[in-house]
Amino acid sequence: MLIVNTLPQVVKIKKIIQENEQVKTFVLDISLGAQPGQFVNVWIPRLDEKPFSVAMDNGLELHLAIADVGPFSHALHELKEGDQVGVRGPFGTEFTCEKGQRLLFLGGGYGAAPLYYFAHKASAMGCTVEFVVGARRKDLLLYTERAEQLKNVNVHVATNDGSAGFEGFNTVLMEKVVADAEAEGRPVDCIYTCGPEIMMLKAMQLAEAKNMQAQISVERYMKCGFGVCGNCCVDGLGVPSCVSGPVMPLEQVKQLKDFGKYHRDHLGKKQYFG
Ligand SMILES: Cc1cc2nc3c(=O)[nH]c(=O)nc-3n(C[C@H](O)[C@H](O)[C@H](O)COP(=O)(O)OP(=O)(O)OC[C@H]3O[C@@H](n4cnc5c(N)ncnc54)[C@H](O)[C@@H]3O)c2cc1C
Ligand code: FES
Repeated sequence: MLIVNTLPQVVKIKKIIQENEQVKTFVLDISLGAQPGQFVNVWIPRLDEKPFSVAMDNGLELHLAIADVGPFSHALHELKEGDQVGVRGPFGTEFTCEKGQRLLFLGGGYGAAPLYYFAHKASAMGCTVEFVVGARRKDLLLYTERAEQLKNVNVHVATNDGSAGFEGFNTVLMEKVVADAEAEGRPVDCIYTCGPEIMMLKAMQLAEAKNMQAQISVERYMKCGFGVCGNCCVDGLGVPSCVSGPVMPLEQVKQLKDFGKYHRDHLGKKQYFG
């Protein structure tokens, strides 16, 4: 059976927002009903197609926060408002929570953008969100000003050089925020994380140590996006992370042999995390 979202739709870029020196938000003139944590594949004909997390789908527009890191993302950054791209999706699993919970988000790099979208949803569900974000420097922080506008969302910033907020790694700040919530008598119910895998490993270890729940965005090299090519399968479970993930619960991530150790490149070759 051919599923409609497996075919690309041609979409106009309505607006481009330069977020910092590496990241632009592309506002696409389409809504796909995408939920926080899910991703879409963006296609530039005759070049390539790559996956990107949804930073907002408000029923009218789809937002993607894209870092310029290589040939494809650079080609995207060269596009102008009014240009067109192909989009397929949404694919994968989403972040979930229950009404009124206290949640901790740990975001790094472009991972802050999909977490912002989830903060938007969680805030509307009456949750309290402790949103911990980190960057090397103040000017590389992503989506913090947007998150600060949300009701019951407390943004905690960490920068490596101390140019904003806590000086040091956001994982250290995360531990402090979790301890403060415990001391207040209203502990965090669940940790959500998206960003560099070594950062997410720390979130996973804290959740295990505290016997807390966690949801982790496991990103592997993706091609088809809907479970056919097998390129994104995770070792230990053997399931495609584009279908069983990217968002996986802690219990599932604990069964992965590759998490925090290595991922596989476009040829399936192991690439160990630095
Ligand atoms: C589920 C998911 C969500 C993502 N969300 C975002 C996002 O919101 N914003 C963002 O900037 N980036 C996101 N990425 C990463 C993005 O797909 C890659 O950075 C991008 O494809 C780089 O391509 P390139 O040609 O510019 O660089 P390249 O030089 O080709 O690659 C740079 C690095 O990007 C990664 N990468 C490249 N191709 C893929 C691929 N097909 N699948 C997964 N990783 C790849 C590899 O780690 C590679 O080392 C996401 C990846 C996944 C799997
Ligand atoms: S990207 Fe093809 S199976 Fe996941």
